Amino acid sequence: MKDSIFNNTDLMSPAYVYDQDKIVEVLARLTEIKENTDCFPLYSIKSANISGLLKIIKPYVDGFSCSSLFEVQLAKEILDDSQTIHITTPGYREDEWDQILELTDFITLNSATQAKNYSEKINSIASCGIRINPELSFINDERYDPCRTYSKLGVSLNDIADKKINIDWQFIEGLHIHNNCESNNFEQLKQTVDKVMSAIPLNDCDLKWINLGGGYFLNNETDTMPLISTINLLQENYGVDVYFEPGKGITGHAGYLLATVIDLFVSEGKQIIVLDVTINHLPEVFEYQYQPKVMNTCDKSDYEYRLTGCSCLSGDIFGDYYFDTPLQTGSKVVFENVGAYMQVKANMFNGINLPVTYLFNNDEKFKLLKQYDYDSFRSRL
Ligand SMILES: Cc1ncc(COP(=O)(O)O)c(C=O)c1O
Repeated sequence: MKDSIFNNTDLMSPAYVYDQDKIVEVLARLTEIKENTDCFPLYSIKSANISGLLKIIKPYVDGFSCSSLFEVQLAKEILDDSQTIHITTPGYREDEWDQILELTDFITLNSATQAKNYSEKINSIASCGIRINPELSFINDERYDPCRTYSKLGVSLNDIADKKINIDWQFIEGLHIHNNCESNNFEQLKQTVDKVMSAIPLNDCDLKWINLGGGYFLNNETDTMPLISTINLLQENYGVDVYFEPGKGITGHAGYLLATVIDLFVSEGKQIIVLDVTINHLPEVFEYQYQPKVMNTCDKSDYEYRLTGCSCLSGDIFGDYYFDTPLQTGSKVVFENVGAYMQVKANMFNGINLPVTYLFNNDEKFKLLKQYDYDSFRSRL
């Protein structure tokens, strides 16, 4: 997306901007994979869930994968009856079961306790699966690693193989695995599937499906052949339907945050920029010490600035950047690759309004998808 597009003076700031073309490009890859494999791609709505965006993604997927009752309700609102709703979470609550059962087609349980308590009940209404922790880590930061030591995400594969945990497989039709994050390497998925399928007691169960989770990019640099061969192998060897549920791979690279410089001053020799956004609009900056890419910056120049947010938190800092040209009050600053896990986690700390959301489409038009106001802030208090 060209930076000049953001200089459109009619645009409100701050704004999340989703590039529809980029999203559709990845979705076309998803369609290609589906055509080559007869698998069922889903979209994991936890990564970005503005409803106008979900409507763009909907025609390209067989359903949505969800993590809570509210996400299930949102999926029901957006999807057609021919599409399916899937949920997996460690957080099933007794008081939400009736609604989840009514609305969801595929329910994946997260632990042996849940399997014991709920699998029979689910099996009479929806398809019941179980999440397996394959105990195969590919992620360095354990805060994001579903296979970290003593993980709460899924039943330990080793414990199943060693018969330390007993699962009653009679009501379980599916397996769910998700053990990666921001990976370009589908060989890791192949390894995971090999490990899982060689340890699951296949004679005890009548598996109908397997869900391969998300955690992989689907851009042009990603070789999807190992994914395709893994899916084909699962279908041929085990006769199962195969689902997979990318989130960030679809929306991450297509999202921008447009901000405006509202103050610029020198503090102890450093040029400080205050933007009209806060790190609470890109929460992974603080949570994950992630330094987002910014348009029109370089490795070294005469224009070095510390980009900070406008909240009272002293650590509300995006980082130090060298710009190609000098900044001044009113200059636009655009963060790139921030389409996933940002808007969904953003909050109104300090009572600062959330950015509006635009969809940028083919005709170089910005369509306003969402705008918040004082009532949005007040209604949660
Ligand atoms: C079970 C499950 N499926 C899918 C996803 C989507 O992952 P990503 O957005 O990295 O593709 C996640 C992310 O946390 C997840 O926990």
